[in-house]
Amino acid sequence: MLDYMLDQLRQLEEEAMAALEAVEDRDALAAWYRRYVGKRGTPSSRALREERAGYDARGRDASQPLPLTQLVHAVEDLPKEDRPAFGQAANKLKAKFEAAHGAWDQTLYQAEMERELEHGALDVTLPGRPAGPGHLHITTQTLRQIYDIFAEMGFQVYEAPEVETDELNFGLLNMPPHHPARDMWDTFWASDEVLLRTHTSPGQMRAMRERCPEPIRVILPGKCYRYEQVTARSEHQFYQVEGLAVGHNIRMTDLIGTLTQFARRFYGPERRVRIRGSYFPFTEPSIEVDMDCILCHGRGCRVCKYSGWLEIAGAGMVHPVVLQNGGYDPDEWSGFAFGPGVERPAMLKYRIDDIRLFYGNDLRFLRQF
Ligand code: PHE
Repeated sequence: MLDYMLDQLRQLEEEAMAALEAVEDRDALAAWYRRYVGKRGTPSSRALREERAGYDARGRDASQPLPLTQLVHAVEDLPKEDRPAFGQAANKLKAKFEAAHGAWDQTLYQAEMERELEHGALDVTLPGRPAGPGHLHITTQTLRQIYDIFAEMGFQVYEAPEVETDELNFGLLNMPPHHPARDMWDTFWASDEVLLRTHTSPGQMRAMRERCPEPIRVILPGKCYRYEQVTARSEHQFYQVEGLAVGHNIRMTDLIGTLTQFARRFYGPERRVRIRGSYFPFTEPSIEVDMDCILCHGRGCRVCKYSGWLEIAGAGMVHPVVLQNGGYDPDEWSGFAFGPGVERPAMLKYRIDDIRLFYGNDLRFLRQF
């Protein structure tokens, strides 16, 4: 009986190793494994019983050896003293099959990779798609024009954070809690104390506290946020360029002269400027600066709503309280501040009729500038 069983193992080995030579792909290899080693995993006892029944039905001298796992189950047919010898032989064969299977699997995998590399559609010598050169966003271009104009007048660029405290955005700018002027600026709040700045004016306080007691001439460009219905004219995010001058004997005429110069350099040398009284808590007096409409030159058209004038900035003389909060004695120092936007001037200059286009990321729009 033992001899017969060992013979079965030998026969299985011979047949399996010969069959392996003919295996040419990984599907066939899996089939080979099922045929000669057997199903993977531990068979249930029911499956085992069925296998046994099949084995018995085929008879002991069937010419085709059973898969190894089934042969192993036949160990129960052997007398106790013969079982170890058979078990060892079967285990050795199992190890041999597993090793042969593993090695062949590797070989097939290699061959498959090589075939793919040879015949694959990837031609690494084809020229790639060139990355189109980018260019500056219209807002950045406009900002740089503004920097240049103010640089000629001696203004440095001063950067301040977009995330501000209630105190800097409002309180120190002469708007204590519950001041009604706060209603002009609502924004996105991170907490009761921290918000996205509604204007670049808090940068005035930062510049003053840093530069005091030096005289100041800076512009503060940057993104501002407001809780705002988005329309063709209003976005909830936009840029401003704050201007601040602090010194001795700085007067309203200096402010008007500075903004007139800006309007003429940015929009054209023929521009005229007018001022109207206005109100901001952090300037006193406060003004609104208009220039004659660049489309109709003051005759009246759709762009200027038939008034002949376009608003370019809120401005004013720095409020004494604000000077004091910044560290400057208002009896000795004076200053002016102004705060034009960036997108709206660009809209006027380039005849853009919808502010939403600036941050819509549509390349058909962006590529025009
Ligand atoms: N911060 C004001 C606004 O956002 C503009 C402004 C700036 C007014 C500086 C006066 C002085 O509307």
